[in-house]
Amino acid sequence: MDIVVSGIRPTGNLHLGNYFGAVKNFIKMQNEHKCYFFIADYHSLTTHPTPADLHGNVKNVLVNFLAAGLDPEKATLYIQSDIPEVTELYLLLNMNAYLGELERVASFKEKVRTQPDNINAGLLTYPTLMAADVLIHKAAKVPVGKDQEQHLEMMRNFANRFNRMYKVEYFPAPVAFNFGEELIKIPGLDGSTKMSKSEGDYNAIYLSDEPEVIRKKIMRAVTDAGPTVENQPKPQPVENLFQLMKVLSTTDTYEHFNNLYNTCQIRYGDLKKQLAEDVIVFTHPFREKIKELFVNDNYLHKVASLGAEKARESTSRTIREVREIIGFKVF
Ligand code: TRP
Repeated sequence: MDIVVSGIRPTGNLHLGNYFGAVKNFIKMQNEHKCYFFIADYHSLTTHPTPADLHGNVKNVLVNFLAAGLDPEKATLYIQSDIPEVTELYLLLNMNAYLGELERVASFKEKVRTQPDNINAGLLTYPTLMAADVLIHKAAKVPVGKDQEQHLEMMRNFANRFNRMYKVEYFPAPVAFNFGEELIKIPGLDGSTKMSKSEGDYNAIYLSDEPEVIRKKIMRAVTDAGPTVENQPKPQPVENLFQLMKVLSTTDTYEHFNNLYNTCQIRYGDLKKQLAEDVIVFTHPFREKIKELFVNDNYLHKVASLGAEKARESTSRTIREVREIIGFKVF
């Protein structure tokens, strides 16, 4: 059993791509490992959200993850800003994080390019805060995508540097948790190969979407003029709809429409109608759960306090030991 940590950016509702990607894996991992999942609200301050947006985004993410099946009894589910030890470790790690290496991080360079008017120190030290998130639990594994590989490498550097500097074997060097082939990729409705919220309102279907919204989005999905030759390969946008059907509809439904395509008899309108209904059925329990949790602040409070309490068992121990190693002595 490994210690696993992952941070979730509070960016709003979950879509089907998130669900079949990270979320389903989190749900599986919580049964097999000692998991810490937290909402990275400190990290989100780099973009200066309003107080209302900050709280709203954290609440949305919490509600969505609970509705999707994260179990606060199995995993430790907490809010980053509830754990002051994280910020202390962040400060301590920053003393050995060098400007040169922080400036070389690809995600930082990207921000320098895209938002030159807001290059704050929080952005520069994003990797140290992330390292603190993980090292505070002395975790071995971090389930994140390829885009976070460089951040993981920095985490290992910070961990090893600390160990070397104080001649201890204290922090393990965390590695990426690979879910490998099991990952189901969900395509976008706009013909792109990946469902993504950044691609506009009609690309992604959210677990919280109402049936009318789902129907509207799917009916607007990109297709083509239809096949003219039997068994011809499907162009990407059409392949995407079939891909969604494969994941969300029954095998019979998929085969039915696949045969119609291969015999050039398909009507995309019919396929879309069927797909929309199947998506509505699939998302129904999530949608209902999200609504129920959203008005249950009492329960959300309980979840967050339980998470903070469980998280602090390891975070307070780590900080106590780290202070000792560094030489902060109690008088
Ligand atoms: N940077 C991660 C992302 O963009 C979120 C994150 C913050 C994180 N702290 C973390 C992920 C610690 C893993 C571990 O998605």
